[in-house]
Order: sequence, then structure tokens, then C-alpha cells
Amino acid sequence: MKSLICAAVVVYGLALSGQSLAQADLAKKDGCMNCHDVATKKVGPAFKDVAAKYKGNAGAEATLVSKITAGKDHPAVKGASEDDVKKLVKWVLSM
Ligand code: HEC
Repeated sequence: MKSLICAAVVVYGLALSGQSLAQADLAKKDGCMNCHDVATKKVGPAFKDVAAKYKGNAGAEATLVSKITAGKDHPAVKGASEDDVKKLVKWVLSM
């Protein structure tokens, strides 16, 4: 029984890391990483710093998604669909 639980935890862990890998790929594909990096400031702020800045802010996801999709106060990101941006903002805020 114990090993069954262990196996379940491992599978869950793999699924989670698979997900963040997919989001990192999406961020590259959509050009976010031309201006951003996870941990260092480039043209735009490091995603980790963004997550820290919005920590505990319940409206952060909606604010950031509209900011990025509208291209207001943020450079326009034409390649990214709204769906992509939602996923990416969730990913950034989870850091
Ligand atoms: C042309 C360069 C550029 C690209 C491409 C770009 N960004 Fe940004 N980003 C910036 C700059 C500059 C800022 C800082 C100004 C600001 O706060 O909007 C920023 C800020 C942000 C912030 C923080 C906003 C805040 O209110 O603190 C997030 C989140 C973000 N970008 C996500 C993304 C995502 C997701 C993508 C890809 C879909 C992306 N960015 C693509 C330049 C870029």
C-alpha cells in the first residue's frame, strides 16, 4: 500500500513538472522570453519578481492578462492568443 502511494506521488510530480515545461516552451514560442527571463531582469522584469510583487493580490491574474492582451502599459504581444496569455500569467504567478 505504501509503495502504491509513493508511485502515485511520483506520477503526480512528473505531471506537474511536465506542465511547467510546457508553459516554459509556450513562453518561448510566444516571444515572452525575448524580453523576460524567469530569474533575471532583461527588457522586462524577471518573472519571479513579478510573482513576488503580486503575491497575495487576488486580482493579479485578471489585471495582468488584460494588461498584456490589450498591449496597454505592456508591449503588444501579437503572437500570443488570450488563452496562451492566461496560461502564461498563471505560470508566472505560481513562481
Ligand atoms: C518587447 C518586449 C516584451 C515582450 C515580448 C514581452 N514583455 Fe512582458 N514586459 C515587458 C516590459 C518592458 C515590462 C515592464 C513594463 C510593464 O510593467 O508592463 C513587462 C512586464 C511584464 C509583466 C509584469 C507586469 C506588471 O504589472 O508588473 C508580466 C506578467 C509580463 N510582462 C508578461 C509577459 C508575457 C506572458 C509575455 C509573452 C506573452 C511578455 N510579457 C512579452 C516587455 C516585454
